[in-house]
Amino acid sequence: MRIGILMGGRSLERDISLRSGRRVSRALQELGHEVVEYDVDETLVPNLKGAGLDLVYIALHGKFGEDGTVQELLEILDIPYTGPGVYSSAVGFNKAFSKEIFRRHGVPTPPFFVLSEATFQEMGSLHALPVIGKKLGFPLVVKPVAQGSALGVRVVQEGGELPEAVRSALHYDERVLLEGYVRGSEVAVSILGNAELEVLPVVEIVPRSGFFDFDSRYTLGATDYYCPARLDGEITQRIVEVATRAHRALECENVSRVDIIVDEAGNPQVLELNISPGMTESSLLPLAAEAAGLGFRDLVERLVRLALEKYSR
Ligand SMILES: Nc1ncnc2c1ncn2[C@@H]1O[C@H](COP(=O)(O)OP(=O)(O)O)[C@@H](O)[C@H]1O
Ligand SMILES: [Mg+2]
Repeated sequence: MRIGILMGGRSLERDISLRSGRRVSRALQELGHEVVEYDVDETLVPNLKGAGLDLVYIALHGKFGEDGTVQELLEILDIPYTGPGVYSSAVGFNKAFSKEIFRRHGVPTPPFFVLSEATFQEMGSLHALPVIGKKLGFPLVVKPVAQGSALGVRVVQEGGELPEAVRSALHYDERVLLEGYVRGSEVAVSILGNAELEVLPVVEIVPRSGFFDFDSRYTLGATDYYCPARLDGEITQRIVEVATRAHRALECENVSRVDIIVDEAGNPQVLELNISPGMTESSLLPLAAEAAGLGFRDLVERLVRLALEKYSR
């Protein structure tokens, strides 16, 4: 097959995407495919038109790659692509919409409030922050509504830190999410499939210090991963159930990775769902696949097959 890979681009996660993309590119070539790499810029659409591609593998992370934008373009050009469609991408990349939909589908997610930048300028919502602090309690988590790789995410210990944390999150998006802090074990659940789903072994994430922020993710040895997670069978079963429900609630196809914290009572709380999980050497989806006996190349092959299956129905 002739497969195009979209990577890089101008998002803040450009470097991670290049790492994912190059690794996927190598695997696709080893599988015998003809690969065309695209570092996404304004030449993308003209280059894709008439390129004769059988499929596009989306290895983009962050805005435009993960928020339904590029998916929409590929729909317009009638080029099959890997990963969930426009709706799941647009909603999945927006933590506020995702959480609203999770709630409506009985997917447990921490309590939250959303404020837009405009409400600070035009409605004085700075004065709402102490109220939110009281309602959610401390610590609480402040994050951009639409961003990834923990960029702009802060754990806030007391009210005095709130305005600065909010300001910092608003650098990344025009909306900020304030969320109740969940104490417990962090896990990631990767799901493969279309109508029928395969839930890969749960990965437990234990950063050596602080939370699972950008440095904990991409610095070698900064985080310990356990796969399968060191949790008892009943809790693992609950996690799998909740992750599957989240995947279905956002109507995902092909793949997703659901980020969860299991609270101290053993109840999984969904933080978010990712439609373009990282594929780097230290990423969670390849790690989970490995534990299920799927090497990196097998995983890439499976993603290609799932993508084509979606279009053959
Ligand atoms: N409500 C929360 N309680 C505790 N830790 C959180 C919470 N929300 C986020 N975190 C921490 O911040 C990290 C990034 O948050 P997440 O919502 O997954 O956003 P991102 O899209 O940046 O990965 C998580 O991996 C977790 O370590
Ligand atoms: Mg996450």
